[in-house]
Amino acid sequence: MHSFRYQQDRLFCEGVDLSAIADAVGTPAYVYSAETIRNNFRRLDHALAELDHAICYAMKANSNLAILNLLASEGADFDIVSGGELFRILKAGGRADRCTFAGVGKTRTEIEFALREGVYCFNVESEAELNFINTIAGELDVKAPVAIRINPDVDAGTHKYISTGKSRNKFGIGIDRFEEIYRAAAALPHLLIRGVQTHIGSQILDPKPFAEAVEKLVPLVQTLKAQHPTIEFFSIGGGIGIVYDPALESGDASWWTAGDHPRRITPEAYAEAVAPLLKPLGLKILLEPGRFIVGNAGVLLASVLYVKKTPAKTFTIVDAAMNDLIRPALYEGYHEIHPLDKSAARAAIVMDIVGPVCESGDFFAQDREIPALESGERVALLSAGAYGFVMSSTYNSRPLLPEVLVNGDKWSVIRERQTYDDLVRGEIL
Ligand code: LLP
Repeated sequence: MHSFRYQQDRLFCEGVDLSAIADAVGTPAYVYSAETIRNNFRRLDHALAELDHAICYAMKANSNLAILNLLASEGADFDIVSGGELFRILKAGGRADRCTFAGVGKTRTEIEFALREGVYCFNVESEAELNFINTIAGELDVKAPVAIRINPDVDAGTHKYISTGKSRNKFGIGIDRFEEIYRAAAALPHLLIRGVQTHIGSQILDPKPFAEAVEKLVPLVQTLKAQHPTIEFFSIGGGIGIVYDPALESGDASWWTAGDHPRRITPEAYAEAVAPLLKPLGLKILLEPGRFIVGNAGVLLASVLYVKKTPAKTFTIVDAAMNDLIRPALYEGYHEIHPLDKSAARAAIVMDIVGPVCESGDFFAQDREIPALESGERVALLSAGAYGFVMSSTYNSRPLLPEVLVNGDKWSVIRERQTYDDLVRGEIL
């Protein structure tokens, strides 16, 4: 469930009127609900109670320090993919020894940094990387904890850019070569084999592909565990999806069914599909959810600048753009769009909602039926908490947006809006 609701005609986040935040910080701006993040984390944690487990929040989804701090205080571990992410964890009061370090292209600087700080494990994706980590660990005279990512070759049925578990993807090592690679790792003197990892993709709404991957891998993990007794965990990755378009599916506009929508994969259904398969392993089970924790906990606020009617279409032009939220342009991602104040309640018309950037890909909605909007009105793009701000850029020299965290009836700015001076900082004339 998320904490964005209309009270009378005004859209609230928890106890705070979003219009008040828009008045104070301006638009565009990101707003997150602390309550939603906490609830998502706790519900998943609770659903997995029968397993010895750890939730390693995939911080690539949203890496604001305040959000990391919130999750660290909830007891989250973290899945990181760069030296910059490790730096953020340390700044946010998190601990390196509760981080797993993933990614196909770790650099020497990043590996050294992670070894010096003492990360819990490197999730390794190739033999070349295994050898490189071994060499660096030798130079530093430490043992590097490693897990190897298995590519289970299952189809997650998700967008091709966010599907990772097929053998044609760049991720992981094929099932057929697995024992051989673990043997090679065991022969390297500066490595400690700590686990096994997999991840099949993102935005998966059906428990089946998760169960399929786990079912396929459990016997293999069993074998590896017997061969390498230092193995203590099996990470089944992230990928639990959220419902972005409940109104589309149910055919009505009462969009806050986004809680337990029939199409939503609940933590309970997910746990039911995988836990019985995992339990007999007797290993610690790690999860790496990103989107599930923060996706429906954030909105992007924008103001309508102009309404432009052409013979073909009505374009509602807002002040946010693809550089602020790239998901529609990149994955044809769907985000519900609702007015902050719906007291005007106009008739719905078919429109495109677009930003000011000079590209035809700069849209948030195409041919969508939405109550007509007027210049000066403000809207919220829902479910923008994951892969929203973190994927933003300053394209068209548009400063990065502020981020606000709501907690009950209080709110605070957790990132200031960039200024024009910030935009050119570091550039040399
Ligand atoms: N673990 C690994 C190894 C990953 O590659 C990812 C995401 C996750 C965990 C977290 O996945 P999640 O639970 O958030 O689905 N920008 C795209 C999503 C990219 C996902 C990349 N990897 C989007 O906006 O849909």
